[in-house]
Amino acid sequence: MALPQVKLYEIILGLSEALDLIDPVLSNHHKKVAYIAQAIGEKLDLPTNTLRQLIMAGALHDIGSLSIIERISILNFEDEYSHEHAKVGYNLLKSFPPLENIADIVRFHHLSWNNGQGQYSKGIPVPFESHIIHLADRIAVLVPDASRVLEEAPKITEKIENVKGSKFVPEQVEAFLELADTEYFWLDIVSGSLDRILSAKFEGVNVEVTLDELVDISRIFSRIVDFRSPVNAAHSSGVASTAKLLSKKMGFNDTKSNLMLAAGYLHDIGKLAVPPHILEKPGKLTKEEFMVIKRHTYYTYSIMSNIKSFDNMTKWAAFHHEKLDGTGYPFHLTEKQLPLESQAMSVVDVFTAVTEDRPYRLGMEKPEVTKLLYKMVKNNALNGDIVKILIDNYDEINYGRFIAQQNSLDEYAHFLVPYKERFSDDAAYNFIGK
Ligand SMILES: [Fe+2]
Ligand SMILES: [Fe+2]
Ligand SMILES: [Fe+2]
Repeated sequence: MALPQVKLYEIILGLSEALDLIDPVLSNHHKKVAYIAQAIGEKLDLPTNTLRQLIMAGALHDIGSLSIIERISILNFEDEYSHEHAKVGYNLLKSFPPLENIADIVRFHHLSWNNGQGQYSKGIPVPFESHIIHLADRIAVLVPDASRVLEEAPKITEKIENVKGSKFVPEQVEAFLELADTEYFWLDIVSGSLDRILSAKFEGVNVEVTLDELVDISRIFSRIVDFRSPVNAAHSSGVASTAKLLSKKMGFNDTKSNLMLAAGYLHDIGKLAVPPHILEKPGKLTKEEFMVIKRHTYYTYSIMSNIKSFDNMTKWAAFHHEKLDGTGYPFHLTEKQLPLESQAMSVVDVFTAVTEDRPYRLGMEKPEVTKLLYKMVKNNALNGDIVKILIDNYDEINYGRFIAQQNSLDEYAHFLVPYKERFSDDAAYNFIGK
């Protein structure tokens, strides 16, 4: 099977939407920043390639901020902690060579110009583009909804102009002031057309990602889903590894097995829309909580299906809570409508969920797992042939899952734990009373 032609910018713009699922307040924040940054860059006559980098950096700039309380705090005001999420974002992106330049831009996107001192941070040169993202971000958070945007525009402009030189680079502010005089600039920001406007800037760009790169970028996004909570800190990597190993045992070729790996990394990306206190609840969920959980595969589907080149991979990832008898969610598809790969992903998801350790319970052992999976086969939820292949290769697949999850937990401990302690989502939910 041929590798689908997956364009890097399409993945970045598509997945950036997932970053804004964390809170409705953030609606379209990343794309707004991308748009404003490139518009300022255009006014400054920056080269096309730089404009495209500004779009990608804008679309990803807050990728390192995983908790709601931090999101709210960096939206409303900047403080010494603002640099923390920029650093985490830098570390996440740096691990992916095609986005190395973007990582450098994201790293300093909260640094003030400080009358020229902001050219360097602790001796490291700060990209000019970082200051553009900083300016674009601060403009974006001030922009109200469409009904009030033109009325508010002069006030926003004044606020920005007041900190020209101290906070922002003077020539970048000048470029913004020129834009601010035009109504289309403000109306574009609040329009529902940012996707179209931004995609058009990549016309003729055919930077396709290789299969390995597709896997790598999917892994980065799996981290932002998993690392929001210690309970789920390794779930997606377990699903991804199991999906790949099981695919091989099912006779899928290498390409398809690796696409299943990527689909596994992305299968729960819609969980960014589910508050952590629900994800982490050890006991039985209430009816209302379960309704919130059920949204996640819908969001996985809607985000991934915007990335046209993902093609079938979207179904493999997003149908993992469907059941053969049509009682799953959110589409209630039946056996005939479910691709074999999706049926495999359902098996993989249940297997990973019950075998992984959680802070409040240990994972199940093989006899219990076998019993549970076959019970689900009997109830016409899972495909019996696929379950048999998994059980026949249990030790190898389970070991692969364990190692993959261990690696992910090491990464979590390495650069996120101290940060997580300061920005606990539980505190956020008590704080905002959700
Ligand atoms: Fe930020
Ligand atoms: Fe931001
Ligand atoms: Fe799920």
